[in-house]
Amino acid sequence: MDFEFIITSKQEAIGIVELNRPKQYNALNRKMVREIVEAFEQFERDEEVRVIVLQGRGNAFSAGADIDEMAFDDTIKLELLNQFADWDKIALMKKPIIGAVQGYVFGGGFELALSCDMLIAAEGTEFCFPEVNLGVMPGAGGTQRLTKLVGRTKALEWIWTANRITANAALQHGVINQIVQKEILIEETMKIATQISNQPPLAIRLIKESVNKAVDYSLYEGMQFERKNFYVLFSSEDQKEGMQAFVEKRKPQFKGR
Ligand code: CAA
Repeated sequence: MDFEFIITSKQEAIGIVELNRPKQYNALNRKMVREIVEAFEQFERDEEVRVIVLQGRGNAFSAGADIDEMAFDDTIKLELLNQFADWDKIALMKKPIIGAVQGYVFGGGFELALSCDMLIAAEGTEFCFPEVNLGVMPGAGGTQRLTKLVGRTKALEWIWTANRITANAALQHGVINQIVQKEILIEETMKIATQISNQPPLAIRLIKESVNKAVDYSLYEGMQFERKNFYVLFSSEDQKEGMQAFVEKRKPQFKGR
């Protein structure tokens, strides 16, 4: 895959996307976001890939949307560009996306991180929505995703004040899954990614879909959705293999079918 602002690679069943504008703290210009989506889509189609890892090169995950690029935009240009349609596509990915974050996770970078399914953060990582300091507000899901995650009170505090949130506070409020030493961020993220990649891919996929529904559905609707997905898995070879392996007291070999 040939990209200008990101680097992609594969390690066994894991597809890796690395933001690569380190001098600008991986500020997200529009082409970069399009490239991230394209890379995700390619990994979605790649049968060898079971988990995607997203990380940032240099001293930041990302300092947010590229301010130089949007400083002179007007309403009509933004409406016609419809740039957030690309961001919306990230939420459509069915494979697990694990973010490895460090340094600054600001603005659109925070929103990109919140679009991941799990987040592993290095010690010293800072999260922030600084948009208000620029006279605007988060525009790529920040007010919505953060509120659903941490509740209205903390979301308003964090977005209104633009205070920097420590990794510990992010962990305490359920924004991230784990804090690790910076030197072992990628190693630890790959360990978790590998563990998930060894699980039956169809179950992993339908679990993601069902858990995501819990955010938007009522409990009753969510339960019906979960049940259908539970039944669907009984059509898979992996369900037969998983249960047979248990009975035969051996390790299952999951194929994703
Ligand atoms: N957009 C464009 N360029 C950026 C950038 C951004 N978001 N963040 C950093 N850069 C660039 C700087 O302009 C600078 O470039 P030059 O060397 O060419 O001058 C380079 O990266 C290094 O930045 P600093 O010199 O500012 O480095 P620092 O260590 O003093 O500060 C920082 C680091 C605190 C992250 C600071 O750069 C900063 O505050 N960045 C802006 C953060 C921000 O406001 N993000 C929100 C963007 S709006 C948004 O994301 C909207 C949305 O919801 C989609």
